[in-house]
Amino acid sequence: MSTKSAKEEYLTKINEMKLSDEKPKELEDTDFFTVARERRSVRHYDPSYKMTKEEIEELLAVAVQAPSSSNLQPWRFLVIEDQEQKEKLLPIANNQQQIVDASAVIAVLGDLEGYKNADTIYGAAVERGSMTEEIKDFYVKTINDHYGNLSREAASRVAMIDGGLVSMQLMLAAKAKGLDTVPMGGYDAEKFAEAFSLPENLQTVMLISVGKGVKKGFEKFRLPLDELVTWDTF
Ligand SMILES: Cc1cc2nc3c(=O)[nH]c(=O)nc-3n(C[C@H](O)[C@H](O)[C@H](O)COP(=O)(O)O)c2cc1C
Repeated sequence: MSTKSAKEEYLTKINEMKLSDEKPKELEDTDFFTVARERRSVRHYDPSYKMTKEEIEELLAVAVQAPSSSNLQPWRFLVIEDQEQKEKLLPIANNQQQIVDASAVIAVLGDLEGYKNADTIYGAAVERGSMTEEIKDFYVKTINDHYGNLSREAASRVAMIDGGLVSMQLMLAAKAKGLDTVPMGGYDAEKFAEAFSLPENLQTVMLISVGKGVKKGFEKFRLPLDELVTWDTF
């Protein structure tokens, strides 16, 4: 009898879909439209390819240019690049091979108390002369009143939305740099929190494997726009 969980089986089957042996496309130009069109979820990586800390930071630095609710930037990142830590993560993430083969797994996290940085964030605007102290104080008070009183569920929703935006930007940045990624929701969030000693205020948004892909993702199919778009009102 198989010991694989249904989810693990489902995630393994993805790799049995008609996959070509071709490598992910090397982009000749990194025009935004090309990068966005060519990004694929890649699940096969060169395990010998290691990214440097600087390379990972370069991607994160551009990812955090993403917009966020009240500019509170509640995203946090746990970069898992140590092989032993990746092995620890493997069973928590349904034994998805990309966890151990890609250069790093970036756990995108959301800080449910991200609003506590409001003073720092808006204080910087005052220092740069783009906001008066008075407006800053008003903003910070309003933010504290609003975000400080959200239920955990509502705060989590904000963290997930902002975390999704930063994740997308990270994946596109990687593609523009000739690297590949796959976003992953197929992991046990509770076990993850326990295994990596996640502080109470942080929750996982998604895991992203990043590295040098060796097999491109399967062909894209997207629903046609006319099935997705309504103009003006339903
Ligand atoms: C939130 C989220 C969770 C995902 N979880 C997984 C996952 O656990 N494992 C996996 O192999 N792919 C995962 N994917 C990748 C999707 O299967 C993939 O984005 C989709 O099939 C479209 O293919 P493309 O990314 O190549 O365009 C996830 C994608 C998203 C956005």
